Amino acid sequence: MKASSVSFQAAILFVIAGMIWGFIMAISEDHSAMAAHAHLNLLGWVSLFLFGLYYRLHPSLEHSKGALIQVGLWIVGTIVQAVGVGLVTTGDNSGEPFAAGGSFIVLASMLLFGWLVFGSERAGVRA
Ligand code: HEM
Repeated sequence: MKASSVSFQAAILFVIAGMIWGFIMAISEDHSAMAAHAHLNLLGWVSLFLFGLYYRLHPSLEHSKGALIQVGLWIVGTIVQAVGVGLVTTGDNSGEPFAAGGSFIVLASMLLFGWLVFGSERAGVRA
């Protein structure tokens, strides 16, 4: 399993879900879930696709446990956060722990990505 392939395929699923959500908001003329739609698209589509591009450009990371954990955490965090923010912005405060939990998960994933990028770039500089 390659980290880039997982990223690209999950990103496509996220953007399809995000676009359908956008249509639902537009047709219903209820934009209260806008923040959740925006986060789902920006975390799930834009960021995840960018991770995939980085891993595709750095084949040594493709099969590393760190990259697969990073992508997996990002996918889980994005789903949990989108559900939580969606609930909160539509008036259901039971979504708060999910919004917070999902946010911490994507932060942890980004810290891991940063660690992988710094390690890879520094190794590249030394080579
Ligand atoms: C079929 C595709 C899409 C539809 C129908 C759609 C629909 C919408 C709607 C109805 C809003 C609320 C606008 C408002 O109340 O001002 C919105 C906001 C937003 N959407 Fe989408 N969207 C789509 C795709 C995307 C994608 C692919 C992204 C990101 C890559 C995105 C990012 C955003 C952002 C950041 C906002 C918040 C804008 C603001 O703060 O004013 N959307 N979208």
